[in-house]
Amino acid sequence: MKAVELFSGIGGFRLACDNKNIRTVFANDIKTLACDVYASQFGTSVLHRGDIKDFFDKIPDHDLLTAGFPCQPFSSAGKKEGIRDPRGTLFQSIVKTLDKNKPKYFILENVKRLLSMENGEHFATILQELSTLGYCVEWRLINAIHFGLPQNRQRLFITGIRDHEPKIRLLPKSDIDQLSSGHLILARDPSRWQEINVHGKAFPNWGLAKEGKFLGCNVNKFSDAAPPVLLRDILSSEVPSDFDFTETTLSWLANNTPVNRYYQGVEIISNQGGGARMGYTIYGINGVSPTLTASTSRHYERYKVGEKFRRLTNYEYARIQGFPDHHCQVVSTYNQYELYGNAVPPPMVEWILGRIFPDKNEDLWPAINQLEIFDHAN
Ligand SMILES: C[S@@+](CC[C@H](N)C(=O)[O-])C[C@H]1O[C@@H](n2cnc3c(N)ncnc32)[C@H](O)[C@@H]1O
Repeated sequence: MKAVELFSGIGGFRLACDNKNIRTVFANDIKTLACDVYASQFGTSVLHRGDIKDFFDKIPDHDLLTAGFPCQPFSSAGKKEGIRDPRGTLFQSIVKTLDKNKPKYFILENVKRLLSMENGEHFATILQELSTLGYCVEWRLINAIHFGLPQNRQRLFITGIRDHEPKIRLLPKSDIDQLSSGHLILARDPSRWQEINVHGKAFPNWGLAKEGKFLGCNVNKFSDAAPPVLLRDILSSEVPSDFDFTETTLSWLANNTPVNRYYQGVEIISNQGGGARMGYTIYGINGVSPTLTASTSRHYERYKVGEKFRRLTNYEYARIQGFPDHHCQVVSTYNQYELYGNAVPPPMVEWILGRIFPDKNEDLWPAINQLEIFDHAN
């Protein structure tokens, strides 16, 4: 099994593929620091530095294409004409590679917002393009919290398989079982497959698409969850004083209002005016972290650890994202935050790989005509 990793960053997909014995034969990223990290961890032989548009001819044959692609709005010229025009976007480089190399599988990763951007038009265009290239597409929104990571990070995974019959891979059987007591529809009924371009303002968090049509529903439970891990379980006990708050920051915090509640698993201790200014929020360690971002501003990471107030360390960031502590050690501590914040957590990818390529002959992949699933409330 050979994989190609586009927009490879620091290699979140690569780590997961290595763990599943899938050999990466080509990786590409434009960002120097990300490539420096990638090269330090995986060598230089498969890594191609630079703009993807210069490398289409160099992409070798492969079975699996992976990509956490940057989310860009489609062009306004397309909008004016009343159609979506994805030409020239980075997503198009994925389409071009799938069209040219025809790998049997792909896995793409993106932010939750993609399901509702531009009233669903953006995702509709993506589904339309992928499903008419001969792939059965399946997507699901999953949260890092369920993969033993102390972070509220919802990410959308879009998978594709060149296959005639749509099968459900991203819903474990117990998730499907939870769905079968409500108003039921028979997914085999072709009239239940909607035209992709006739969609609501947001796509549901799970679905299938094929040849320009889709079917989906909101699945709100995740039955395959690993035991929860909290921030306090992964924090370092000895942390250099560089990570402590400055006197100036401490003086701002004197004006904070206590909040003391959990929001999506994140413990919020206090902030200014009860929440209006994120920048002043102090988080606790008895919950999980909010989504780590690629922002270089450290305003979002303020934690009360014991009696101290401090930022998280680069090692703690690595753990929260599911990377080894020293993964990014070739770049400065300052730059590591952004690289981790941009990365895909390898444990999430491993779960997706396990659903597509199961280790044992489990009761996986029911063909949709063997299933009854919930209709989703649009
Ligand atoms: C969301 S990040 C992907 C991170 C990666 N999955 C990881 O685990 O680190 C998107 C990546 O796309 C890269 N990128 C943006 N424009 C690019 C281009 N034109 N060609 C190649 N890579 C590009 C960025 O440098 C960034 O590392």
